[in-house]
Amino acid sequence: MPRRPWRAGPRAPTIERMTDVRPVALVTGANKGLGRETVRRLAGSGWLVLLAARDRERGTQAAATLADEGLDVEFVELDVTSDESAEAAVRAVAERVDHLDALVNNAGVAGPMLDPADVEAAALRRLYEVNVFGQVRVTRAFLPLLRKSERPRIVMVSSALASLEHASDPARPEYGFLSLDYASSKAALNMIVSQYARALPGFKVNAADPGNPATDMNRHTGVHTVAEGVEAIIRLATLDDDGPTGGFFDRNGPVPW
Ligand SMILES: NC(=O)c1ccc[n+]([C@@H]2O[C@H](COP(=O)([O-])OP(=O)(O)OC[C@H]3O[C@@H](n4cnc5c(N)ncnc54)[C@H](OP(=O)(O)O)[C@@H]3O)[C@@H](O)[C@H]2O)c1
Repeated sequence: MPRRPWRAGPRAPTIERMTDVRPVALVTGANKGLGRETVRRLAGSGWLVLLAARDRERGTQAAATLADEGLDVEFVELDVTSDESAEAAVRAVAERVDHLDALVNNAGVAGPMLDPADVEAAALRRLYEVNVFGQVRVTRAFLPLLRKSERPRIVMVSSALASLEHASDPARPEYGFLSLDYASSKAALNMIVSQYARALPGFKVNAADPGNPATDMNRHTGVHTVAEGVEAIIRLATLDDDGPTGGFFDRNGPVPW
């Protein structure tokens, strides 16, 4: 299927646009990998970025490293599997800012590569706890602050492995990649994106496919750089008002569901 180009290009905030209000983003799972690079890119464009991580030491270390680069980054403790942690994170953010313009639900885990016939329900539940329930928990918790934004954007970091069209096509690499837990968790996330997009007028809610970037998640076997991996995330977090909602995109354009 020929791929359409992006309908709306990224619109990084300019100095003029920020004279009154600096856009604010929160990125989960941001102490390393794609999350940290997303923080770096948004902060480098002039956003105030809240770097959320479940581990205080890893999170403050990552924020300090980015602050040393001259970026305005603040750490927020957030374990996406915990209601208490999400509520505490919202309170901490609400003390700092009165709204949130972009929420990037990036935190994610992958399980061991097992034959689908060997995947137990308990293992599936552990992985869904982060990749599915965590994203809903965090989104729900931050909705009041997002609703105070004039241009709220939610990005769910998904995967091409979640594409049923790709997974059904023997010519595609996704066809040969069996991961019942991980791929199905991201497919569930894609439907969650579709549901939120239809339920939240005024929001832009989209799923991003980072491609195959080399990170700890794949023991750095990925073929893309983290800079390439966050391109779609950045575009979707900074969409113009005429940009898409309820879609699934990689850095080249739409990905089939
Ligand atoms: N790399 C790829 O090829 C690829 C491809 C498609 C999609 N993705 C998706 O991209 C996202 C980022 O992955 P990555 O490649 O950057 O992997 P990564 O380097 O392993 O980073 C994953 C991040 O998620 C955090 N995390 C895990 N459980 C968490 C929890 N309960 N609460 C809060 N944070 C938690 C990790 O924190 P700790 O350091 O504390 O564990 C870490 O910061 C994930 O959603 C992943 O599924 C990656």
